[in-house]
Amino acid sequence: MSGPNTDYDPVEVTPLKAEHVEEMREAALAAIAAAADLDALKQVRLDHAGDRSPLALANREIGALPPQARKEAGQRVGQARGAVNQALAARQRVLEAEHEQRMLAEEAVDVTLPTTRHRRGGRHPITLQSELIADLFVAMGWEVAEGPVVEAEWLNFDALNLGPDHPARTMQDTFWTEPADHHVVLRTQTSPVQARTMLTRKPPIYVVCPGRVFRTDEYDATHSPMFHQVEGLVVDEGITMAHLKGTLDHFASQLFGDGITTRFRPSYFPFTEPSAEVDVRCFVCRGGEGQAACRTCRGEGWIEWGGCGVVNPRVLVACGVDPAVYSGFAFGMGIDRSFMFRHDLEDLRALFEGDVRFSSAFGTEI
Ligand code: DAH
Repeated sequence: MSGPNTDYDPVEVTPLKAEHVEEMREAALAAIAAAADLDALKQVRLDHAGDRSPLALANREIGALPPQARKEAGQRVGQARGAVNQALAARQRVLEAEHEQRMLAEEAVDVTLPTTRHRRGGRHPITLQSELIADLFVAMGWEVAEGPVVEAEWLNFDALNLGPDHPARTMQDTFWTEPADHHVVLRTQTSPVQARTMLTRKPPIYVVCPGRVFRTDEYDATHSPMFHQVEGLVVDEGITMAHLKGTLDHFASQLFGDGITTRFRPSYFPFTEPSAEVDVRCFVCRGGEGQAACRTCRGEGWIEWGGCGVVNPRVLVACGVDPAVYSGFAFGMGIDRSFMFRHDLEDLRALFEGDVRFSSAFGTEI
């Protein structure tokens, strides 16, 4: 061990005696063998082979010996030091190899192990699309309105000027709840939210309402008994069809791309007068050169998008709004349908079957 060489005696030169050198050698070799790791070995090297180690100090004494004794003592100490250095080097190699093995074992990653991490769910593409649409209108200062999916017959139909004989009221289209004399339906359109809004607040009204609707349709590639619509309603002073056109052009360009506009075709809805079917410019061919071969619009250059019109004064009256002061416009589009042509989706059912492989293709925001 290091420390003052207490055996130093210039007369006897005890440290250089054969058994003493042997002791130092044995002590060093034992310490080397006992060094459990590289740090421990570093300390052992200092203690037994460093400048102040017993063998180094003994080596320094050799010069003080009479010439005859010097040779033998020199050999003894030299051999002992050689053996210690060799043992140090050998132990160093062993410990380094062990260290490397341990690091490899500790840092190994078994990429085949089953993961305990659960895939986080994502939001449904239709939810995302509905929110995107709502956001477009909120950005123009509109509000988002909501209504129940189980709705009073009066709000779903009568208030919207859909008289009792209107074909949409037959059992064909509507899910009625029981008992029938309660006159409660699953809403067939988001339009009752128009009536609800007018009945509960005063103009000016600027609302958009995305939501689920129900009809007794077949379930196939293009129909579903449950689907989504977005309704828009404005009631204010001096509102005209021009405001409606401008709003829908803006909506179309935001949803389908810059420069995508709409066209109106005359139509009929009981709750609007005049009414129009609204088409959106095909955002793929844009009605240009590739139109004839365009799959998205089937060569039309336009895609049917929804219905719209100037709110029928009868609806304003039914909902307590004075048509002499106020006028309004309304529109309604299928969200699923918009999603289908926007993303070139051929089978509507993919939207309702809950396969995460489908949803994740559209980005699963949490
Ligand atoms: N509710 C209509 C439907 O389901 C769509 C619609 C047409 C809504 C014209 C409107 C509108 O607000 O003005 O077919």
